[in-house]
Amino acid sequence: MTRVSVTVDGTTYEDEVEPRLLLVHYLRERLGLTGTPVGCDTSNCGACTVDCDGATVKSCSMLAVQADGGTVTTIQGLAAPDGTPHPLQQAFHEHHALQCGYCTPGMIMAARDLLSENPAPSRDEVRQALEGNLCRCTGYQNIVDAVIAAADASRADEPAVPAEEATVA
Ligand code: FES
Ligand code: FES
Repeated sequence: MTRVSVTVDGTTYEDEVEPRLLLVHYLRERLGLTGTPVGCDTSNCGACTVDCDGATVKSCSMLAVQADGGTVTTIQGLAAPDGTPHPLQQAFHEHHALQCGYCTPGMIMAARDLLSENPAPSRDEVRQALEGNLCRCTGYQNIVDAVIAAADASRADEPAVPAEEATVA
């Protein structure tokens, strides 16, 4: 067994784990964070995507011990403390971007990563960013709609930049 200390969705956990334990199984079975699903056994579907230290990773392709000392954010850590959904969660709901919902956590985590780097993506850029995430239900159209809508909503929420700060020296 190996000792790990991992901060997940704002809470730090100290645990003894088998060195071979996958991060997704640590999240689901040890921590009870079942919002991150396992959708395949080939590391292909992306359903298990989480953020680890600022990078999206498929948590079925990473060991829990590799997250030692790190910070993991799952779909369950996105809502505001008062329960207000993340703009992507809200947009997926409003645009009917899910049916069975199995792919949704991974889709949202991958889209969140995209919007952190590119707040105004084109539809093609959204499709490219989500190409590692498979959905067998929706045909993807509504997912792209939702990501674009969330990007628009997030930009609309940004405070206007005062004119003097917006001026390039
Ligand atoms: Fe991780 Fe499918 S469960 S990629
Ligand atoms: Fe069912 Fe995407 S909504 S797999």
